[in-house]
Amino acid sequence: MANTFFELSFSLLILSVAAMQGTHAAVEFVLDYASDNSSGGLRFKNEIGVANSLQTMSSATNFIWKIFKQNNPSDRKNVTKVTLFIENSDGVAFTVSNEIHVNANYLGNYTGDLRREFNGVLYHEMTHVWQWDGNGQTPGGLIEGIADFVRLKAKYIPSHWVKPGQGNRWDQGYDVTARFLDYCDGLRHGFVAELNKKMRSGYNADYFVELLGKTVDQLWSDYKAKYAI
Ligand SMILES: *[C@@H]1O[C@H](CO)[C@@H](O)[C@H](O)[C@H]1NC(C)=O
Ligand SMILES: *[C@@H]1O[C@H](CO)[C@@H](O)[C@H](O)[C@H]1NC(C)=O
Ligand SMILES: *[C@@H]1O[C@H](CO)[C@@H](O)[C@H](O)[C@H]1NC(C)=O
Repeated sequence: MANTFFELSFSLLILSVAAMQGTHAAVEFVLDYASDNSSGGLRFKNEIGVANSLQTMSSATNFIWKIFKQNNPSDRKNVTKVTLFIENSDGVAFTVSNEIHVNANYLGNYTGDLRREFNGVLYHEMTHVWQWDGNGQTPGGLIEGIADFVRLKAKYIPSHWVKPGQGNRWDQGYDVTARFLDYCDGLRHGFVAELNKKMRSGYNADYFVELLGKTVDQLWSDYKAKYAI
């Protein structure tokens, strides 16, 4: 069962994965895992493991490029290496540029399907690595909503998410905004990909009008009305 190579070297493992599309691009995925015998660290090692994490980083990346319709390297952010840190800290996870940090304590305390939760967290965080942020002008709620939209499309959503139609504001973020974006994507297939593309250099609420012919507030009203009982 236990692979000796992984046992000995799991503190720093490197896997190079050639991009699925495009001939020249390659992204390197690195895992930095504190082998400190903490309960979370051990649970990570035993129930998820190095090989699975690197594989998930790679499949999440390919999935995100597909969702964003970024078939060519020139469409994408120029990221050549993504590092995943599994460390004991607070919260669930966060991402700064091409570094993803997942809290081992969170994994250690998680009750339920840990692999599924880990994958969902990773798809969300990996989206932050690849999505455009309008040069810092995109509202935070939309950024988080797109990351959860990817998680939704990957079918890794947790049971505590709001149902379609729930929430108070379109830019509330996370699951609320993800459900709304899914509605918008239903009105125009590929909407989220086009919205992300527009945010390469800036952000304007009119992007919703340009793509869907209605203001985002009107779209939110329509969305709420669709699910009103
Ligand atoms: C973790 O536990 C193993 C096995 O008990 C031990 O060999 C190793 O030194 C421990 N590592 C740390 C960092 O405490
Ligand atoms: C992408 O980034 C790498 C390293 O940061 C750099 O060597 C390369 O020239 C960049 N490629 C493009 C197309 O900008
Ligand atoms: C997980 O449980 C440990 C031990 O009870 C606790 O110290 C830690 O703060 C918990 N972590 C989280 C993220 O809840």
